[in-house]
Amino acid sequence: MTLFRFIKIAFFLSSLWLIQPATAQNYRPSAGIDARVDALLSRMTLDEKIGQLTLYTTDWGSTGPTIREGYKNDIRSGACGNLFNSHTTEFVRELQKVAVEETRLKIPLLFGFDVIHGYKTIFPIPLGEAASWDLEAIEKSARVAATEATAAGLNWTYAPMVDIGRDPRWGRVMEGGGEDTWLGCRIAEARVRGIQGKKLGDPDAMLACVKHFAGYGAPIAGRDYNTVDMSERYFREYYLPPYEAAVRAGAATVMTSFNDYDGVPATGNKFLLDQILRKEWGFEGFVVTDYTSINEMVNHGVVANDKEAGELSLNAGVDMDMQGAVYQRFLKQSMQEGKVTQAQIDEGVRRVLRLKFELGLFEDPYKYCNAAREKATLFSPENRAAARDVARKSIVLLKNEKQALPLKKGQKIALIGPLAENKSELIGNWNGAGNANDCVSLREGLAGNELLFAKGCDLVGEDKTGFAEALRLAAQSDVVVVVVGEGAMMSGEAAARADLGLPGVQEDLVLELVKTGKPVVVVLMNGRPLAIPRIAESATAILETWWLGTEAGNAIADVLYGVYNPSGKLPMTFPRSVGQVPIFYNERNTGRPYDPNSKWTSKYIDSPNSPQWPFGFGLSYTTFSYKELKASPELTVLRGTPTLERARIQVSVQVTNTGKVAGEEVVQLYIRDLVGSVTRPVKELKGFKKILLQPGETRELKFTLTEKDLSFYRRDMTFGTEPGEYEIMVGGDSEALTKVKVKL
Ligand code: NOJ
Repeated sequence: MTLFRFIKIAFFLSSLWLIQPATAQNYRPSAGIDARVDALLSRMTLDEKIGQLTLYTTDWGSTGPTIREGYKNDIRSGACGNLFNSHTTEFVRELQKVAVEETRLKIPLLFGFDVIHGYKTIFPIPLGEAASWDLEAIEKSARVAATEATAAGLNWTYAPMVDIGRDPRWGRVMEGGGEDTWLGCRIAEARVRGIQGKKLGDPDAMLACVKHFAGYGAPIAGRDYNTVDMSERYFREYYLPPYEAAVRAGAATVMTSFNDYDGVPATGNKFLLDQILRKEWGFEGFVVTDYTSINEMVNHGVVANDKEAGELSLNAGVDMDMQGAVYQRFLKQSMQEGKVTQAQIDEGVRRVLRLKFELGLFEDPYKYCNAAREKATLFSPENRAAARDVARKSIVLLKNEKQALPLKKGQKIALIGPLAENKSELIGNWNGAGNANDCVSLREGLAGNELLFAKGCDLVGEDKTGFAEALRLAAQSDVVVVVVGEGAMMSGEAAARADLGLPGVQEDLVLELVKTGKPVVVVLMNGRPLAIPRIAESATAILETWWLGTEAGNAIADVLYGVYNPSGKLPMTFPRSVGQVPIFYNERNTGRPYDPNSKWTSKYIDSPNSPQWPFGFGLSYTTFSYKELKASPELTVLRGTPTLERARIQVSVQVTNTGKVAGEEVVQLYIRDLVGSVTRPVKELKGFKKILLQPGETRELKFTLTEKDLSFYRRDMTFGTEPGEYEIMVGGDSEALTKVKVKL
C-alpha cells in the first residue's frame, strides 16, 4: 500500500472516531427516569402536554414584549409549565404552590432566570472573566452564582452564552468569552461545570442553558438580531465548537438564537437543531427558544403566521416556546391538521419532564425555597471574597510607561471621571438580582489614601463645565487616575454601537488632563473593545477593568497599588478604529499578505492593519522571557507504517520571570498549518497555561497537541489532519511569539 493511500485510510478512520456523537460527559437521563416520565405522560391530556412546552415570564421583568399576561391563571389551568423572571424563595414558593396544589397532575414548574455573572454577589461581566484566562476562577464564579441562585428559588439559568464575538460593535460581546474558538470552548465547559455542579439534583445545582444556538455572535455589521451568513466550513470551524463543548460538558438545555443562518431562522432550523445538535452531538436535553423567536419567524418572512411558525419550530426540533404563546395557541390545531404529530409533542414533553425528575422536583418541589438558606448564602463574605479574587484576575494592564503603576504610597491622587465614584454601572448589564448600591466604587476602594476628587464630566453629553475643577485638582496632585468608559446599558442585548470611542466628552477630558504633564492613569470600564487611539498614545498608563461587579473598587485598588500584580490578557482584539472591524487575530492568509512596502497587498491606505492591542495581550508589573522552544512530532505506528492517526506534537518552552516582582503569565500556544487543502488561519490558539513565577524563576512548560488540535474541515468537509509542516508559536500574546517548525 502506498503511503498516500495509507494516509487516506487513516484520515477516514480518524473522522469516524471524531464524529462519534455521545461521550460520557453529555447529559444522559439517570436510570429509572424514563419509566417515571412515561407513566406520567400516559396520564396527561394534550393541553397539559402543551403546557409543559410553554414558558412565560412573570411580571418581575421581561426582555421583550409581554405577549401573554395572566401567567398565574395559566399555571393554574396547566397551560404554563415553566416560568422565568421570578426569584426569591418567597415568590417562587408562592408560584410553585399553585402548580403543585391547584393543578390536576401537580407537575412542578421550572424557574429560569438570566444569572449571567452572579445572582446577588455580582462577578465581572463574562468578557471580563474571560480576560482572566483562569478556568478555575471562571468555574468558581459560575459555582457561586449557582449556589446563590438555587438558594433563591431558581433551578435554571440562561447561561452560558458562548457565542463567538469578533465584532465589538455587537453589544453582546460582553456576555461571551471573546473572539477565540479554543478559549471559548474551555470557558464554555468551565461555566457549565460551575452552573450544574457535581450532579443535577444536588440542592445547589441548576440547569445550564447554552445560548444562543447558533451563530448569534456574527450578525452583519454588528447589529443585534441581524442576518448571519457564512460558509458551513467557517461556521463549523469557528462558531459551532463552543456550543458543542458546552453540550459535551453536560449542559442540560440549549436556547435557540434570534438570527437566521443560511436563510433559515435558528428557531426553525432543522439542520442546526436536529442534524448538528441532536444527531452529531448526541444532545438529549431540551431546546428552548429565545424570547418570542418562534413568532419572529413571521417577520423573517419564512412563514405566513404564528401557527405556521410553531409548526416549523416543532418540526425543526424546538421543545419549549419562550414567551411566544404559539405552542399554547396553535399546536393542538396543528396536530389535528396533521402538520405536527403526537409523537413529536410527546418527545418534547419527555425531554422537559426528565429534567424536572432529574432535579428532584417531584420529590420536593420547594427544594430551592428554604428562606434560612437563602439568607445565609446570598452576598456572604466568602462569595464577596471570591468576587474580589475573580475581579482582580480579570483586569488587563494595557500600558504602563514611566512605571506609573503601581502607585506609590503617599502619592497625592487626583481621582477624576464620571465613573470614579459611580456604583450604578459597576454591576454591568445582565446583573441578576444584584444591587448597585452594594458595589464598592473605586473612590471607596481607594479610601484611606490622599484623594482629590472631581467628576469632570458625565458619561454622555457635551457639557465641559466640570473640566476646570478636574484640571485644578490634577495640577495639585502627584498622579491623576481618570475613570472613564461606557454605561452598563451601552452593551448587552439591543446595544450595538456604530462608534467605538468613549461616549460624550470623556476623551476630551482625558486629553486635557494629559496636557497638565502629570502622569495620567486611565481606568477603563466598558463592555466591549473600544477604539481609543489618542488615549492609547498619550496616557501614561491604561487599565482595562470592564465592569467588575460588586467588588470592583477593591479589586481595582488592589491592582493600582500592586497588592495584586495584573495578569489578565485580552480575550478580544482592540481595534484602532471602527473601520478595521471585524478584526481578530486568527484570520486566514490571503494571496496578497500584508507588506508595508507594497501597495498591492491586503491593507488599508489610511491605517495600519495591526490592532491597537492584540488578542491575548496584557502587561504585568514584571516581565517574562521565552527560550528553548522545542516541538517534536509523534506519529503512531499502525501495522508497521507511520500514520497521522492519533498524531501528537510535544511542545516544551522555558519561561523566566525577568523582573523584580512575582507575577503570573498566561503562556499561550498557537499553531499554523503552513499548507492545507484549504486556506488555514495565520495563527490558532491551541493551548495555554497560567503560571506564577517568582523574580528570576524559570519554569519549563510542556504542552501536547493532539490530533484533534491539528484537525480541521478539509476540502471535502471531513474533519481531520493533513500531513505537512506546522509552525508552533509560544508567547505572552498573539503577536509576541517565538516560533519553531515541525513536520508531520
Ligand atoms: C432574550 C435574550 O436574547 C436571552 O439571552 C435571554 O436569556 C432571554 N431574553 C430571557 O431573558
